[in-house]
Amino acid sequence: MTEPFSPALLLQQVLDTFEATPDPRLREIMQAAVRHLHAFAREVGLETDERRAGVQFLTAVGQISDEVRQECEMLSDTLGLSSLVETSSTPDGATLRTLTGPFYAPGSPPREYGASMVERDDGDPPAVISGRITGAGGAPIAGATLDVWQNASNRLYAIQDPEQPRFNLRGIYRSGADGRYELRTIKPVSYTIPDDGPVGKMLESTGRHPWRAAHVHFLVQADGFLPLTTEIFDADSDYLDSDAVFGVAPELILDFSRGEDGVHRTTFDIMLRAA
Ligand code: BEZ
Ligand code: FE
Repeated sequence: MTEPFSPALLLQQVLDTFEATPDPRLREIMQAAVRHLHAFAREVGLETDERRAGVQFLTAVGQISDEVRQECEMLSDTLGLSSLVETSSTPDGATLRTLTGPFYAPGSPPREYGASMVERDDGDPPAVISGRITGAGGAPIAGATLDVWQNASNRLYAIQDPEQPRFNLRGIYRSGADGRYELRTIKPVSYTIPDDGPVGKMLESTGRHPWRAAHVHFLVQADGFLPLTTEIFDADSDYLDSDAVFGVAPELILDFSRGEDGVHRTTFDIMLRAA
């Protein structure tokens, strides 16, 4: 080593240590991550106590995390990373992908066409969501599964709340021969992401709020097609312009119009891409 120290030399030394990474994709990701991390530290002139505070923050994010409490995932969500990766991987012409969030649970019960997924009547306004599932050319997809999950009006998902029936506001529906599906639920309600941990502190200290716009989640799968995780948002909802995890996109905002029978109805057509 003959050159005097410089940040550029240090960066090159770190990058060189990854040169022999056998997996080329891992090498690309690690080297790019290091380049951006060094550029970030230089841009803000990162100081010793600030770097330490960052390490303490990440330690706290890890320490509070377990299978149910997914703080690392929420960090990615609240920084817009999850949304960036999902929306960017949406195939051309298909329905927009959005983040899954931490409250998806496999094992929801199958439900008939048009059946309700409300297992506890909390007196909430009823809603019917229906639509057609098609491929890129508009041909209906029969037998697609729609795994649907939604929070209750107390703002909690059934998997967070021992007071709710286990499968409340969860269900797996199937499209018919014409690609149509229909489900009955409640009009969605805004809620706060869990904000009693380090991610909540980060939101508070930066003047952000923890609210999500009112939404319903879908995981749609069909043989021969790429799976789709997405959400729909109620056009009446607060926080459409400031969703804490950046899930809202205009094409996913729908009117849940109220019929004379008091039922709110909306149509959500879904386009899948062939695998
Ligand atoms: C959700 O929509 O369920 C969610 C997404 C990100 C963080 C917390 C909750
Ligand atoms: Fe959600």
